[in-house]
Amino acid sequence: MKHFTSLEDAGEPGPLVQSALALKQKPHQHALAPGKRVGLIFLNPSLRTRLSSQVAAQNLGAEAIVLDIGKDGWALEFEDGVTMDGDKAEHIREASAVMGRYFDVLGVRTFPELKDRESDYAETLLTAFMEHAGVPVVSLESATRHPLQSLADVVTIKEHWKESRRPKVVLTWAPHVKALPQAVPNSFVEWMREADVDLVVTNPEGYDLAPEFIQDVTVIHDQLEALKAADFVYVKNWSSYEQYGKILNQDTSWTLSNEHLAVTNNAKVMHCLPVRRNLVIKDEVLDGPNAIHLDQSENRVYAAQAVFKRLLEL
Ligand code: CP
Repeated sequence: MKHFTSLEDAGEPGPLVQSALALKQKPHQHALAPGKRVGLIFLNPSLRTRLSSQVAAQNLGAEAIVLDIGKDGWALEFEDGVTMDGDKAEHIREASAVMGRYFDVLGVRTFPELKDRESDYAETLLTAFMEHAGVPVVSLESATRHPLQSLADVVTIKEHWKESRRPKVVLTWAPHVKALPQAVPNSFVEWMREADVDLVVTNPEGYDLAPEFIQDVTVIHDQLEALKAADFVYVKNWSSYEQYGKILNQDTSWTLSNEHLAVTNNAKVMHCLPVRRNLVIKDEVLDGPNAIHLDQSENRVYAAQAVFKRLLEL
């Protein structure tokens, strides 16, 4: 594995999932990466990704150094061939190459602007980091994907599913007040398509995910119909892909409640966090016995640890 920015980079999920589960049993492996450094570069806010990646590196004996480049670094220019006479002080060509000299692995978080679909889906920012870093790059969430989250999600489902049949997994849209990226649902669909599950996606009209992610996955626009007999329900808001970056619907009948859970097979409820309580998911669900969102967050450590371990070739 050269980089970790999508499922394609990982090859197949199985070995990374097994590695994460093994590391969870025995996380403190400080002898594995002494002297190695992981750079964690954030262009956007984060709680889980930042802290879980730091803990993961430390569990391997590596040092993690965080730069909130959106706040503490120079404003970056990503366009080639421009005369830099505006407010951007440093070009990505130098910034990424310099960080590649400091670190053995570089983690990068970039969000989409949600204005120009073509530009966001071209992953311009993440690609520029990869082109110039000269070391393996890990996506800490990009414009279109959040693979560390998805790996943790697969690990969490595997931990919670003890039956021999394939579980029914439903990804459901929920309302939100802000226009959010499609990265988490895209990535979840990408990883679930390769997992041993029956996946259904439910969202209002106008919120269908990009065809390259959905492919032949069943999409149902009636949420209660989709949720019937679900074993896992993954709740997430995303803005429209079709009318790119727009909020088309804030229908709170999609807010996940115990009424929704009643039609499921006593489904476990997942969310990547942060979650807006009583807008996306009701308190009664988040504080109830079906919620496994904290397990997902915990598993972010072992997902990152498995990826760092593989990239550092330990
Ligand atoms: N789920 C997730 O990526 O959380 P943060 O945005 O807090 O990192």
